[in-house]
Amino acid sequence: MERKYPNLSKPIKLGNVYFKNRMFGAPMGGTDITADCTVGPMSTAFYEYRAKGGAASVTVSELVVHPKTEGSHMYHLDLHTPGSLSSFTYTADAIRRHGAIASVELSHSGQYSGTYLTDKDKKEGLAQWGPSNGTRPDGREVKELTQDLIDEIVEAYGEKAALAKKAGFEMVMVHGGHGWLINQFLSPYFNKRTDKYGGSLENRVRFAQEVLDSVRKAVGEGFPIEFRMSGSELFDGGYDLNEGIKIAKLIEDKIDLLHVSAGTYQRGFGVTHPSMFLPHGSNVYLAEAIKKHVKVPVATLGGLNDPQMMEDIIASGKADVVEMARALLADPELPKKVVTNKDDLIVRCLRCYTCMAERAQTATRRCTVNPIIGRELNNMEILPAAVKKKVLVVGGGPGGLQAAYTAARRGHEVILCEKNDEVGGILIGEQAIPFKYEMYQLGVTLGKLCESVGVDIRLNTPVTKELAETINANAIIVAAGSEPFLPPIKGLDGENVILINNYHHEKEKVTDKVIVLGGGLAGCEVAIHFAREGKQVKLVEMNSELSPDANVRHRPLLLAEIEKSGIEVYKNHKALEVNVNGVVCSNKENETVLIEGTSVVCALGQRARRDIVDELWNSAPIVSQIGDCVKVSTITTAVYQGHHAAMDV
Ligand SMILES: Cc1cc2nc3c(=O)[nH]c(=O)nc-3n(C[C@H](O)[C@H](O)[C@H](O)COP(=O)(O)O)c2cc1C
Repeated sequence: MERKYPNLSKPIKLGNVYFKNRMFGAPMGGTDITADCTVGPMSTAFYEYRAKGGAASVTVSELVVHPKTEGSHMYHLDLHTPGSLSSFTYTADAIRRHGAIASVELSHSGQYSGTYLTDKDKKEGLAQWGPSNGTRPDGREVKELTQDLIDEIVEAYGEKAALAKKAGFEMVMVHGGHGWLINQFLSPYFNKRTDKYGGSLENRVRFAQEVLDSVRKAVGEGFPIEFRMSGSELFDGGYDLNEGIKIAKLIEDKIDLLHVSAGTYQRGFGVTHPSMFLPHGSNVYLAEAIKKHVKVPVATLGGLNDPQMMEDIIASGKADVVEMARALLADPELPKKVVTNKDDLIVRCLRCYTCMAERAQTATRRCTVNPIIGRELNNMEILPAAVKKKVLVVGGGPGGLQAAYTAARRGHEVILCEKNDEVGGILIGEQAIPFKYEMYQLGVTLGKLCESVGVDIRLNTPVTKELAETINANAIIVAAGSEPFLPPIKGLDGENVILINNYHHEKEKVTDKVIVLGGGLAGCEVAIHFAREGKQVKLVEMNSELSPDANVRHRPLLLAEIEKSGIEVYKNHKALEVNVNGVVCSNKENETVLIEGTSVVCALGQRARRDIVDELWNSAPIVSQIGDCVKVSTITTAVYQGHHAAMDV
């Protein structure tokens, strides 16, 4: 068989262990930790799903090596915590039985201990320890680790590595990046020590070296050790890439894989986990630069989800391994699809941060485009339905497509009718905004997935009651979506007005002096896009906040992007009239002001399309309604409801 991506699909040997391809599952954690800090069955199922999908390795994330100085909630593996060894053993088993190498991330977050706690009050009981005394940005005191504690922590890394090996893990990852304890020692910003661990770079690297020696002693030769580091801390006062290269050279003989990430969790979240506003692979340059100076194999990651880009990274020698976190939430089968040349069926990560926001807010796992994530044990397995039924799906947006795909996978006969000449629904418009292109692609891919399981897709086919009765389905899933909400503002029907949903058809109508009416998520994002095109952009919002509908991880980056882009923001401005000169508004002081501009993009929200539901609710024994036609919401809601409506048929 000729593989389309031969370099990505090629095995690699690290230490004495063979990995089946070059696509590794990066650690993703902070969720579903049992009350006694072990790995629960839900986490095990989560990791197993990744292994089944074909990743060469799956890394179980953050095992706290020294709970005494890091009393956070994360996994503990020790012989004192009842069940911890068995829980890790079950997890390692679940990964290994699918041919993936099970790895576990050994971690200590140092002065950021407790960062992941959802219930922040619990932090009161924690002591934060770092290389040096100080105060955290949130006002918490950081205490300098004594030599005795350093020795204990170094030893603990070895102890936990040995236990992980005993549990069946075949690799360990030592977390030395993202601002956590080892990174704090490496960093001239955090490390102000004057003893053998501080000052010169050689001294700052000493703690990492001692940790790695301790781990090596525990696991023995040939057992692969992966070291995760930030190639550069990417903030003023932190270490830069030049020092990153030197650090790599000082530790390379102690490890089997150097994993080069970027930045820190606290000071560069949107770079460490590259946001949609950055190009894909924006951190690869760090791995590439470091690789030129070391002999040890190098891994890279950050916003990678395109097989061709990943293939090129390996083929051109920028890195030996690519790692993915979010891309494997979106589609755990990405590696399998790459290896079997089915890459056109990969559901790509949108970089919407639903995963990170959900983790921060509820400590659970969720992914917009994958309804199974975090719920792998909730009867999610798609099994053939006992009785095959005829299912009519009305509407080919993300919810309808997901519903049709899931229903067909269950063996039902599925007809999907879409009134337009292509599927994708509201996502079709996103093709015009480069940093949201994956949203458009989601519609295209779901369409292909539907075809791959035999869904009968009928385009240009609005569903009337008569048509539904002719089709005579056992179940109808109405996914009719939403339509633009147009308040009675004079002039909204003017020649200079473009509805955001139509923007991809009417790009040329948007002039260089554009007003975006509506500062919700869609309005903010399109405003950023126009600013990137070099237009003068004014963003008008009647409320006092921009985009309250954006999630807690995306929103700060969105607002920062708006500020950076030089967009003029008019909050508390209610549009009264649109005319050829711009938009007439009333401001907070009730004054009438003209915001000047030569074109107006209207992003005033959507409203549910209820007419179709009202028409069809009696046209089959089971009629379910999903997504925006029930209540205007997110892609996440549409996809989840679509999947479950199909599971319920
Ligand atoms: C939901 C989620 C949880 C994560 N948890 C961890 C973690 O526990 N430890 C860690 O080192 N990195 C963690 N990360 C960071 C990832 O390993 C990775 O470095 C980052 O997301 C960039 O890769 P990506 O663009 O492929 O997502 C997490 C990322 C996500 C999305």
